[in-house]
Amino acid sequence: MDFKTRTHTCKDLREEQIGETVILNGWVDNRRDLGGVIFIDLRDRYGITQIVFEPTYNKEAHELGKSLRSEFVISIEGKVRKRPEGTENSQLETGQVDVMVDKLTILNEAETTPFQIKDDIDVSEELRLKYRYLDLRRSRMQKNMILRHKFYQVVRNYFDSQNFLEIETPILMKSTPEGARYFLVPSRLHKGSFYALPQSPQTYKQLLMVAGYDKYFQITKCFRDEDLRADRQPKFTQIDVEMSFPNEETIFTLVEGLMQQLFKELKGIEFSAPIPRLTYDEALERYGSDKPDLRFGLEMVTLNDALSNSEFRVFKDTIDNGGIITSLLANGCGNYTRNQLDVLTEFAKKQGAGGLIWMRVKEDGLEAPIAKFLSDDEKQSIINKMNAKVGDLVLIVSGPKQKTLNIMGNLRLEMARRLELLKDTIEDKLVWITHFPLLEWDDETQRYYAMHHPFTSPLTEDIKYLENEPSKVRARAYDLVMNGNEIAGGSMRIFNSDLQSKMFSVLGISKEEANEKFGFLMNAFKYGAPPHGGIAFGLDRMIMLFAGENSIRDIMAFPKTTSGLSLMDESPSKVADEQLRELHIKLRK
Ligand code: AMO
Repeated sequence: MDFKTRTHTCKDLREEQIGETVILNGWVDNRRDLGGVIFIDLRDRYGITQIVFEPTYNKEAHELGKSLRSEFVISIEGKVRKRPEGTENSQLETGQVDVMVDKLTILNEAETTPFQIKDDIDVSEELRLKYRYLDLRRSRMQKNMILRHKFYQVVRNYFDSQNFLEIETPILMKSTPEGARYFLVPSRLHKGSFYALPQSPQTYKQLLMVAGYDKYFQITKCFRDEDLRADRQPKFTQIDVEMSFPNEETIFTLVEGLMQQLFKELKGIEFSAPIPRLTYDEALERYGSDKPDLRFGLEMVTLNDALSNSEFRVFKDTIDNGGIITSLLANGCGNYTRNQLDVLTEFAKKQGAGGLIWMRVKEDGLEAPIAKFLSDDEKQSIINKMNAKVGDLVLIVSGPKQKTLNIMGNLRLEMARRLELLKDTIEDKLVWITHFPLLEWDDETQRYYAMHHPFTSPLTEDIKYLENEPSKVRARAYDLVMNGNEIAGGSMRIFNSDLQSKMFSVLGISKEEANEKFGFLMNAFKYGAPPHGGIAFGLDRMIMLFAGENSIRDIMAFPKTTSGLSLMDESPSKVADEQLRELHIKLRK
């Protein structure tokens, strides 16, 4: 169909253009028929312009205009005029003018859409995902897509300015045994063999360091076949970074510069480096989490010292067994009813706590069911340690260290929700978490797993424990946390094949297996591998936080559901028998 291409977008027209003849292309956003005059809001991704069909102005255009419905795609030619006094719209950038239509071309009609194209619609996410191309027309989604685009530009400019090279790494790679489950791709040419989609370019970026490309970055797709959540997708995007000859400080400085640039350009906020740091142990003890939300206080307090000689059975057992007694002060919650306290206790139990001990702070001391088991000194030292005031509520959980701290960490977040501590908080909080444990013991499989990944270097002074007390070894690993979300993680790497072999053996990976799976990396280390280290950002999570969204699906153009489906094109889907045959695959009945 012939049509004239636009002279302006739907955001451009101002009073300067009054009297000019213009051509606009776009979608019918909204149509009002007022006593024979038809007003249309014409929309494109830049904005909205009101166009007017008037029978006395142009009868033919007006006649055709009557057939317009929402989401029709049109081209119009017309004259810009000043809106009649009192009809200006200060909400619109083009709101001082409108366009009197001389000629209308309907480029395409549209069926009634399954939901209205506007923000604040009450519609299920399933429907939005099924008709994603319509959902993406909404201005909220457009804003998110534009923010995402800007993110890419800032990131690329920043790394370029720091002399980093963006180098692509393979999407079809070798399946290796660590981390999450891989997505596999069968090979047609090599019967019975499979490629894996990368969980991250980890091994490749290390090889690039051996190859001498000392500053690498890449905005890259990663794939993990794991259980999905609001902040997890099977395919997500990382800003992947690696450097040769760095130490932790080099990486921290580089990343802080990037964060400053992102905040400045995308939020208009300047903050001064350095970003605060907490060790893993501190974060766990004070916030019950390795991704603490520091936008509010509510710090946990360890009471082991105050209760070291307690006769109260629960505390005594905990201390004898090397556990922890941790507490939380809920300011002004001393008037919680029994019912409210029961709900909190239930919450703690659901997280796996044996129980929740509570104490109200009164004029004459602590009031609690367990008060009679504590000495006056103990009660006073709880009050002092926690800095508790009359009217406050003390919550205590005790038991094995890691588990108990995690439970209290969750209770901390729950109390923050109940106390609406985040209601007026706008300031974002970044924090580095350092000195992670190198290994995690798994009871089920009775073996250690690398907490970060098997290429992470142990702290030099802890290497001596690697063989006999592996759980004592700390890693040269770090995460960057924003508002309680892990947005990046990285480490200094092992660059010596002996230490790497030792690490594999602690992880229960045999020499043969290590050789088969990672031989290429171990081999590379024989040819002059420089010390290296890096980090990778979860780009989607960062954009979600910058956009103020609660789900990474809202900042991805075409995400999957939490069960890994694409509702729009209905993938994953069955394939033809012929395709399977070519791939040498037979499906089990
Ligand atoms: P890690 O596994 O910590 O490190 O991943 C880095 C960051 O990626 C984000 N992320 C995800 N985002 C969305 N959906 C997912 N399924 C998902 N999984 C992870 C997180 C996380 O912080 N190779 C190492 C990095 C390194 O050592 O340099 C790695 O991939 O925000």
